Amino acid sequence: MAASEEEPEALMEQLDVARSLENLPVSAWPPGTEPEPFQYTPDHVAGPGGDTDPTLITFPGCVCLKTPCLPGTCSCLRREKNYDDNLCLRHIGSEAKCAEPVFECNVLCQCSDHCRNRVVQRGLQFHLQVFKTDRKGWGLRTLDFIPKGRFVCEYAGEVLGFPEVQRRIQLQTIHDSNYIIAVREHVYNGQVMETFVDPTSIGNIGRFLNHSCEPNLLMIPVRINSMVPKLALFAAKDIVPEEELSYDYSGRFLNLLDSEDKERLDNGKLRKPCYCGAESCAAFLPYDSSLYRPLEKPNTGEEGKAEQKRVWPHSGGE
Ligand SMILES: C[S@@+](CC[C@H](N)C(=O)[O-])C[C@H]1O[C@@H](n2cnc3c(N)ncnc32)[C@H](O)[C@@H]1O
Ligand SMILES: [Zn+2]
Ligand SMILES: [Zn+2]
Ligand SMILES: [Zn+2]
Repeated sequence: MAASEEEPEALMEQLDVARSLENLPVSAWPPGTEPEPFQYTPDHVAGPGGDTDPTLITFPGCVCLKTPCLPGTCSCLRREKNYDDNLCLRHIGSEAKCAEPVFECNVLCQCSDHCRNRVVQRGLQFHLQVFKTDRKGWGLRTLDFIPKGRFVCEYAGEVLGFPEVQRRIQLQTIHDSNYIIAVREHVYNGQVMETFVDPTSIGNIGRFLNHSCEPNLLMIPVRINSMVPKLALFAAKDIVPEEELSYDYSGRFLNLLDSEDKERLDNGKLRKPCYCGAESCAAFLPYDSSLYRPLEKPNTGEEGKAEQKRVWPHSGGE
């Protein structure tokens, strides 16, 4: 081919939405288009009011120098392995509800980088693309086949305190995209741990994930160095190339609404219509009423968006 024919292609730089900050580039579709600018971060950053700086190292490391990290000998693993030999999360789907919390090996661990208990920290393993959807704004899809159980991407952004969440939510209108997520984990002793993440202005590609009432991803809190969980999205089923990636914003899996949820759905006036297209579509996007209450104590009830009912027999990754 003549040099002049090559030129236009050579000049057309492929946009990387992740700004070279992930281990794989993330393209945008159609070519030449680009989502509204935001500051890219692959990891959580401390935002206003967050109790714990997500970049601080909270956990001790294991001492597995000569033996692989396995339950019984590795202090990072309690009863069972988190991942199988193919890097798949062992409890995915409905079983994930009562799975043990996931602690990966961390920077203080003496095991190698090849340790099987290091998955989310290895970052993106599949080529993803941010693309324009017909009715939902931008979305995220995979260009590769993703087997069930594999880690896909994180949902990272500013980690906020509850009053700041309320302040930001009150500034939103029905026309704005909402990126703020509240994850509630049922810790031991009936306590609830809440984590609020906002990737609106500082965030990663997870911010482009749309909601679906029949999602193909599941969000699991995973702890590595910090007590602040990484919000890790795993494939809940085999996902084929070009399929849009989605999770259930309510934190449920496969739209199992209880009667209270249905009521909230009927009463909600500010609810956004859901265009997920699933047969079992609930018609509206999930709505976290607890984030709209007057500014006071954070809610510790069982309602809420992205609730994680996880059994937590212990508080640390010892
Ligand atoms: C976290 S953002 C997802 C990315 C967003 N589509 C964008 O263009 O940046 C969440 C917003 O996307 C839109 N959205 C997500 N899922 C949707 C769905 N199933 N139906 C309609 N709109 C959806 C809503 O505006 C929602 O507030
Ligand atoms: Zn170990
Ligand atoms: Zn370890
Ligand atoms: Zn839907």
